[in-house]
Amino acid sequence: MIILGINETSHDASVSLIKDGEILFAGHAERYSKQKNDWYVNDSLIINALQYGTPNAIAYYEKPLLKASRLALRGGSGDWKPQFNIEGIPRKSFSHHYSHAAAGYYTSSFNDAVIVVLDAMGEYNTSTIWVGEGDKIKLKYKQNYPVSFGLFYSAFTQLIGLMPNQEEYIMMGMAAYGDWQKYYKKVDEYFPSYNQQKYNFHKGITDWGWVSEQDKFDIAAAVQMVYEQRLNSFMRMAKDMTGKKNLVFMGGCALNSSANTLLWNIFDMIWIMPNPGDAGSSLGAAAALYGKHIEWKDPYLGYDLGGEYPIQKIVDGILKDGVVAVATGRAEYGPRALGNRSILADPRDPLIKDKVNLIKQRELFRPFAPVVMADHAPKWFNMDFESPYMQYTVKCLQPDKIPSVVHADGTSRVQTVTKEQHPGLYRVLNKFYLQTGVPILLNTSLNIKGQPLLNDEHDIGSWELNYEKKIIS
Ligand SMILES: [Fe+2]
Repeated sequence: MIILGINETSHDASVSLIKDGEILFAGHAERYSKQKNDWYVNDSLIINALQYGTPNAIAYYEKPLLKASRLALRGGSGDWKPQFNIEGIPRKSFSHHYSHAAAGYYTSSFNDAVIVVLDAMGEYNTSTIWVGEGDKIKLKYKQNYPVSFGLFYSAFTQLIGLMPNQEEYIMMGMAAYGDWQKYYKKVDEYFPSYNQQKYNFHKGITDWGWVSEQDKFDIAAAVQMVYEQRLNSFMRMAKDMTGKKNLVFMGGCALNSSANTLLWNIFDMIWIMPNPGDAGSSLGAAAALYGKHIEWKDPYLGYDLGGEYPIQKIVDGILKDGVVAVATGRAEYGPRALGNRSILADPRDPLIKDKVNLIKQRELFRPFAPVVMADHAPKWFNMDFESPYMQYTVKCLQPDKIPSVVHADGTSRVQTVTKEQHPGLYRVLNKFYLQTGVPILLNTSLNIKGQPLLNDEHDIGSWELNYEKKIIS
């Protein structure tokens, strides 16, 4: 059976196609429409997906009428009525949090796990705990709107002048430059325990008056600290409630790589599907309808540019110019560029960070992430686990040697690569290592700030025309 999973009407619309236990395609609407965080799927995306098979069923990631009632009774942004349909094909809807849970558990290698979903909100749920055993997923605990980890984080994102539901990751990066103690007490009063908030964050926070530039960084640091503490309590509660040692973590909150690292203190094994936010829920809905584990091989599931991985060209380019842009093979499903739509650069050069920030037109304080050969990772970073999808931030052990990929607080958001995960990228790193003694490159997404990642041949053409920068493909 071929199932088309759909997620639309809110931020980050996407489409996935699975055939029995195999993922044939998964892609984001914004990469085709060029509208960042696009709400709806579009024809180009659907046409691309259907090249991989004709669906027998459609799975939708939310319960439209339940969401309509929430919007009417409680408000909130977003639409409830999906636009895409194929006449004559049966269609089934799953709840927002169940789609998240299914995306995580059914792509995991676990037969037994606790599944935690934390986001701004689904129809009504904001925080849920599920148990996965065999192919069954059962709800154990739910917390409803307005108490919400996601709304808490987004409200402060907005307070410091960033875009809520989109730029939370910038606030997380700013936390490293702030003094968390200055605003800790005030922020803590808003969110005194994991199931209690003395404010409806959905209304935004407006009563803080004028906020100075340094205050923004201090607030970011306090918010991150409070978030990490409440997350810690919630996760310990989830473990105690279920007795499970394996964690599947999903929902937009699972994108907070600094907080994710702390979860290794609580659980033996962790799986965060590389697209844990709503954009991953088209795959979740499809997996929910299938009702069994599906095979997760890698996140290279989107538009296919074809071609062999241009190993030698990349290495030569980096050694000559310090930085190259790469677009080849299938696009990544998820927010991170993991080698197929990436800017790769020499991490040893302290000036490279500014150079890449200028190319991408980003704020100069913004950090960059390293990609490292997995077998070398423990020598360079304080980690005893793999991080193939840039989901954890860890302490860098040799910051002087790779200054451009170390954040202000001495940490790095690491991507580890094995030969099996991405043979081409692994060979690039190995060649760079043999020449320089450093098995690491800077890896960042191939896009301009605030725009979607480059997707197809047309995007490559416009980039080369507009920015006069050649892309290796
Ligand atoms: Fe969500």
